[in-house]
Amino acid sequence: MTTLRKAEPAALAEAAAHLRAGRLVAFPTETVYGLGGDATNDRTVADIFRVKRRPQFNPLICHVATTADASALVVWTDMAGRLAEAFWPGPLTLVLPRRADCPVSLLVSAGLDSLAVRVPANEVARDLISRAGVPVAAPSANRSGHLSPTQAADVVSELGSDAAMIIDGGPCTVGLESTVIGLLDETPRLLRPGGLARATIEAVTGPLGRPRPGRITSPGMRLSHYAPARPLRLNVQSAAPGEALLAFGPDAPPEGPTVRNLSPAGDLTEAAANLFRMLRDLDRPEFTAIAVMPVPLHGLGEAINDRLSRAAEAGQPTSRRLD
Ligand code: TXA
Ligand code: MG
Repeated sequence: MTTLRKAEPAALAEAAAHLRAGRLVAFPTETVYGLGGDATNDRTVADIFRVKRRPQFNPLICHVATTADASALVVWTDMAGRLAEAFWPGPLTLVLPRRADCPVSLLVSAGLDSLAVRVPANEVARDLISRAGVPVAAPSANRSGHLSPTQAADVVSELGSDAAMIIDGGPCTVGLESTVIGLLDETPRLLRPGGLARATIEAVTGPLGRPRPGRITSPGMRLSHYAPARPLRLNVQSAAPGEALLAFGPDAPPEGPTVRNLSPAGDLTEAAANLFRMLRDLDRPEFTAIAVMPVPLHGLGEAINDRLSRAAEAGQPTSRRLD
């Protein structure tokens, strides 16, 4: 049975005990809610894949409370140190080679010789991880192919009773998954756009490379990853009859039962925080499709457009209507 609990000390102590005992706990981070388990426990990690119904070749992020804890798991580099100094704790994940003595289950790396590590900014998350005393493997707390949850109620509807506890820490402030940077060769590479904008990272790293062709880099980039049940029609100014409208900016119809506005002020950070919740709100059977107004490509707009086009691709067979 799953218990939904407010993020208070007593609940966090119980949740940490669940984690140490190999059970799964869903918890808030500043990006999205995570489905966490002891990363050093193979059985627990397998349970995460089971509950997610996620193909096993998709590696997981290992969450730790401090940079020192991260650098104990992977082969640390100067560039990793500079990025951690600038952006941790925060919505940034670094992929580095596993250390030979890395205690994290190989299943977390899904067969790769690298490990993704992140120190989340959310204090409830860091408090929980410190109390557990183990690195916490945590994908977003949704079933594979569904939208990432950004509030505790989303997690309840996604996971039902499949976690020992769900910690309610309120809505996620960033609302997009972390940006994933690969540090496996001389060039830092953008493996997944996310809650920390490319330009912000490039101020530290210089121009980011693309994923290396022909390599398994970030399988989470599969097209099916972000998929509402309704087809999306992107970059349109208005909804057709029967469609819902996901709007952006001041030149949009007022919000109502069929209209949500990612940010009436045109603020991309606000839009990112609202994206998954509003897509969920509009992904209802009474609509034939979700029409989406254009979102600018700069800043967090890159990640927002990335998510939207993946969702649109996933719905292609029914959504290819060019009007
Ligand atoms: O914001 C987030 O990142 C959330 C919260 C819970 O931290 N987690 C999350 O996890 O989005 P998940 O499992 O849904 O996505 C993990 C991403 C995927 O794109 C995966 O392919 C990539 O990280 N990844 C993990 N380990 C990797 C590795 N060793 N090499 C390349 N990519 C890796
Ligand atoms: Mg995910």
